[in-house]
Amino acid sequence: MRTIVHLSDLHFGRVDEALLAPLRELVERLAPDVVVVSGDLTQRAKSEQFEAARAWLDTLPGPQIIVPGNHDISLYNVFRRFVKPLERYQRYITDDLDPIHVDDEIAVLGINTARSLTFKDGRVNEEQVAKIREELSGLDPSITRIVVTHHPFDLPKTHDEDDLVDRAPMAMAAFAECGVDLLLAGHLHVSHANSTEERYPISEYAALVIQAGTATSTRGRGEVNSFNVIRVEPARVEVDRYGWDVLSQTFSLITTEVFMRSANVWAAHNDGLLAAGI
Ligand SMILES: [Fe+2]
Ligand SMILES: [Fe+2]
Repeated sequence: MRTIVHLSDLHFGRVDEALLAPLRELVERLAPDVVVVSGDLTQRAKSEQFEAARAWLDTLPGPQIIVPGNHDISLYNVFRRFVKPLERYQRYITDDLDPIHVDDEIAVLGINTARSLTFKDGRVNEEQVAKIREELSGLDPSITRIVVTHHPFDLPKTHDEDDLVDRAPMAMAAFAECGVDLLLAGHLHVSHANSTEERYPISEYAALVIQAGTATSTRGRGEVNSFNVIRVEPARVEVDRYGWDVLSQTFSLITTEVFMRSANVWAAHNDGLLAAGI
């Protein structure tokens, strides 16, 4: 089994400072095999915001798979936005825009979906999908394949389809061929986990989409600050959602969802949603 701590939408520049130390301590206690950060590390892509994000990430365990979000591209500075969109992200966070971690049980691959031409939408392109295909082609079939983006491949029913990553059907067809199991994302500041079966009907294939809320931003969009702990086994995935509890000033377990794989189809386990402590 592998344990992944999945954080998203940190938004340094607009973080609730009281959460940083408790979150760091809990992540350390959870002893993850990999820490994933699915984008929007900053609020406005400013150097001091990236610097603060870098300093905090340095206190977390590794390895870390990090991808940028739309907020990590300068919004108003036209030169930065179009000529050097991810310069500061690459300087402070990581130079690697296609990060990858592979061990005996999991492969975790990041893709940058943030684009200069659009303010908040994201997109995946054929080159990125081809790269994933290539990286995954040589791997042992027993390894669970996990792709990390900022923009999501699925949404809660209440959300507008505009928030989906562009060219998702093209990417999903390729993911079906190379057996991608999990798709981790953020962006909406809303937690969500679901099989891709409904949105992308592909014969004998369904992945699992897992979205994290915002771990530390003050803009929670109706949800408390939260993050996911994902426990990965070859045919079973458990998603624990931790949420900030104002009274105790700690993150505590809110829900656990269980998903099972049968052949190449991931689906919610019958009594998958369990309230914590029941
Ligand atoms: Fe965000
Ligand atoms: Fe975003």
